Amino acid sequence: MSGTKEEDRKGSSEWRDSFWNPRTHELLGRTAKSWGLILLFYLIFYLFLAGMFTLTMYMLLLTLDDYKPTWQDRLTTPGMMIRPKGDQLEIVYSISDKESWDSFVQNLNTFLSPYNDTYQVQTNDNCPPDQYFIQEDSEEVRNNPKRSCQFNRTILEDCSGMSDSSYGFNSGQPCILIKLNRVINMLPGKDGQSPYVTCGAKREDSDKIGPLAYFPPNGTFNLMYYPYYGKKSQVNYTQPLVAVKFLNASLNTDINVECKINSNTLAVGSERDKFAGRVSFKLRINDK
Ligand SMILES: *[C@@H]1O[C@H](CO)[C@@H](O)[C@H](O)[C@H]1NC(C)=O
Ligand SMILES: *[C@@H]1O[C@H](CO)[C@@H](O)[C@H](O)[C@H]1NC(C)=O
Ligand SMILES: *[C@@H]1O[C@H](CO)[C@@H](O)[C@H](O)[C@H]1NC(C)=O
Ligand SMILES: *[C@@H]1O[C@H](CO)[C@@H](O)[C@H](O)[C@H]1NC(C)=O
Ligand SMILES: *[C@@H]1O[C@H](CO)[C@@H](O)[C@H](O)[C@H]1NC(C)=O
Repeated sequence: MSGTKEEDRKGSSEWRDSFWNPRTHELLGRTAKSWGLILLFYLIFYLFLAGMFTLTMYMLLLTLDDYKPTWQDRLTTPGMMIRPKGDQLEIVYSISDKESWDSFVQNLNTFLSPYNDTYQVQTNDNCPPDQYFIQEDSEEVRNNPKRSCQFNRTILEDCSGMSDSSYGFNSGQPCILIKLNRVINMLPGKDGQSPYVTCGAKREDSDKIGPLAYFPPNGTFNLMYYPYYGKKSQVNYTQPLVAVKFLNASLNTDINVECKINSNTLAVGSERDKFAGRVSFKLRINDK
């Protein structure tokens, strides 16, 4: 009995000694000098690692260009997006309930305010249409910042929110805006042919969608808005838009709409990327 207790005490004092041994002045079995050397070693080791990391990062950053992406996929077809846009791609509202469409109208007003003609005239150029607005850098001299072309809000006519401040929502003829996502240096058409948007219903809804009107005429994204040189180079870039107005869509029923880009250089959605060059959304207009 007592033997075990003594062994216990001995064991615990051994343990205490292995933490701090007052006779040899060792902490965890090492003297102060030994600890000092270890700390010094690790300090130098980590300083060396940090130095290596900083040097590598610095070399990498030297190879990057602020104005151009270093890596970019070859001609990929960009996705498209609609405005107004909620959490889902759904435009569902009731004509008689102003609250159900007011947020769409506010959303469009905000989105379109930089397209105001006066603002466009102040910031951007009146470019010749149907041709690219090329502003290449010469050998060593950077041609920055680059100018951008005017996209006047009034081009959207009935969908500009100027003549009809509800964008047709209150009459059951809503406007939806479509934009093509930006891709730096993309040339979306050749032979002076601008890409254009067409919309239609998914097969089972084809008799519900009714006639559509496009603004600007033919639903084109004019070539003059391309190529896009990036946010840093083209500070005032105004993304071109196409507005689609549903003139006589069936009421009180879901209509699945799909809009796609038509271009002689961009391929529309392969199996690999269903979102390339198209956007789908649900439209439902209730009468009360
Ligand atoms: C754009 O024009 C609309 C209608 O005239 C006006 O309500 C809005 O404040 C303008 N936005 C800007 C940014 O000037
Ligand atoms: C935009 O509007 C302004 C003034 O209304 C006009 O002078 C200009 O030519 C228009 N630009 C384009 C590209 O239509
Ligand atoms: C951008 O717009 C501002 C006015 O808003 C103008 O002073 C400036 O020159 C424009 N810059 C370019 C590169 O177009
Ligand atoms: C719209 O397309 C038609 C047929 O492709 C063409 O004749 C017409 O000039 C185009 N209109 C505009 C404004 O581009
Ligand atoms: C609108 O569509 C309905 C069928 O959904 C049709 O009966 C009506 O004549 C159309 N109105 C116009 C003005 O085309």
